[in-house]
Amino acid sequence: MLKLVVLISGTGSNLRALLDAIDDSRNSEQPIAAEIVAIGADTPKANLALAAERSIPTFLVQPGDYPDRAAWGDALLEEIQRWEPDVTILSGFMRLVPPRVVDALSPELLNTHPAYLPEFPGAHAVRDAIEAQVSETGATIMIVDNGVDTGPIIAQQRIPIHPEDTQESLHERIKIVERELLTETVRNLALGTINLKEIAA
Ligand code: GRF
Repeated sequence: MLKLVVLISGTGSNLRALLDAIDDSRNSEQPIAAEIVAIGADTPKANLALAAERSIPTFLVQPGDYPDRAAWGDALLEEIQRWEPDVTILSGFMRLVPPRVVDALSPELLNTHPAYLPEFPGAHAVRDAIEAQVSETGATIMIVDNGVDTGPIIAQQRIPIHPEDTQESLHERIKIVERELLTETVRNLALGTINLKEIAA
């Protein structure tokens, strides 16, 4: 059973979709052999109620409680490693993970990004795609490295931008694809058909 820790900062709708996909697969011919053993956040605004609904342990590690980013990262890493995850997933986690955390966890540290990397990296990918007036963007699952959305890509898919799209309408359409890519990535990791060390090599 693949043990996962997932970190969120916001509504956690992609996490909810992953939880549901894993649960729904249990009664299928191909159960996803993965379990989310803990859910962490950097802010109390994150939707940790998702975890409570499923009796999944949570942890909250807030930057404001630490003297600097490195100390916050060390505390975050300690919390993550308590659960001995096989893979840690950032799913709408809106902070750059400090180098000591990346070095300790990657390549078993993944992120989802609402663009077709290396296009539109950073925290405003959806807005940037609309402002660029391009006809398509995408969604990407990648390994986290010490850059900003520069890690090795695991899966990605193109998504059209419609002229009437707002940032919200486009982001919701992107999230649907992110959820599909993330679920398939977790399924393949559990099956062993994806080798993160090979991808990161
Ligand atoms: C996702 O699009 C993710 O790629 C981005 O923030 C969004 C998270 O949405 N970093 P949610 O919190 O899962 O609803």
